[in-house]
Amino acid sequence: SASDTFIEALPKAELHVHLEGTLEPGLKIVLARRHGHPLQNRTEEEIRSGYSFHDLPSFLALYYEGMELLNTEQDFYDLCYAYLKKVASQNVLYTEMFFDPQLHTRRGVPFRTVITGLGRARRDAEKDFGIHSQLVMCFIREMSAESADETFTQALPYLSEIVGVGLDSDEKGNPPAKFAHVFQRARDAGLHVTMHCDIDQENTHEHIRQALEDLGSERLDHGLNVLEKPELLKQARERRIPFTVCPFPNMAIRPGSNEKDIRALLDAGLTITINSDDPGYMQSVYITEAMKMARDGAQLTPEELLAISRNAFNAAWIGEGERSTYL
Ligand code: ADE
Ligand code: ZN
Repeated sequence: SASDTFIEALPKAELHVHLEGTLEPGLKIVLARRHGHPLQNRTEEEIRSGYSFHDLPSFLALYYEGMELLNTEQDFYDLCYAYLKKVASQNVLYTEMFFDPQLHTRRGVPFRTVITGLGRARRDAEKDFGIHSQLVMCFIREMSAESADETFTQALPYLSEIVGVGLDSDEKGNPPAKFAHVFQRARDAGLHVTMHCDIDQENTHEHIRQALEDLGSERLDHGLNVLEKPELLKQARERRIPFTVCPFPNMAIRPGSNEKDIRALLDAGLTITINSDDPGYMQSVYITEAMKMARDGAQLTPEELLAISRNAFNAAWIGEGERSTYL
């Protein structure tokens, strides 16, 4: 299988990372000091030791707790700049980053504060490290369809800063169909569409079907449960739907997944990419470490990892001119 140095040197594109999930314990302490938050008295090790999860709800509880540290334009700048600096050092040339505006606007942080901080960081990181990045705005699926619509309306002045929309957070009882209206608005505005079909969720096959057939999802984030339904698998293969596979949560939520599922996805002829998801909460497993986990699990060869990396550049929501500079 592929060596560490091969994986480290590979030019990479990341398509599944939540910016709020890149908040490292070290930056949490910096932000806590900035805002006089009690977390300032903890060590990184103490914070990290509280991070364990075994399913989506137990992960989301950790993830939501971190939000209260993100308040000012500078906080969002620091969050995004730190992620881009880190992955530029891993030879990530291009990244599409999810962000969750509703987790901030519902606490009184203006949409504008979030998007201007992230935008300034993106431009500075491009200047400083040459990394190109775009934003994918996610809707929080346990919040109402009306809230998603309001959020889309708030985003209208900033659509030139947003390449696509996604759907994340608590999937139980919150099918893609709940958000048909806002996803239609996004498509009409020319945005790209993806959505999470998380690992082993209730009604997962119906959620995958709705994403692919009813909501116009161009990709599936996670989407592992496609393996159990031949007709969905056939559709995903024929439409060449990219799957954004995330080895760390695979391991945490479905032990053995990287051994069995990654190989099964490849054997089924599906188009997969390898991604980090929420590295700040996942033992700092960024894309390089995620690729090593995938390699260790599925015994991936250099040829397979190169093909997986090319899949990500091919699936990226960029123009053909830019794409040709990567491939
Ligand atoms: N929010 C952050 N990461 C997520 C994930 N992997 N699934 C659903 N919601 C999320
Ligand atoms: Zn995710």
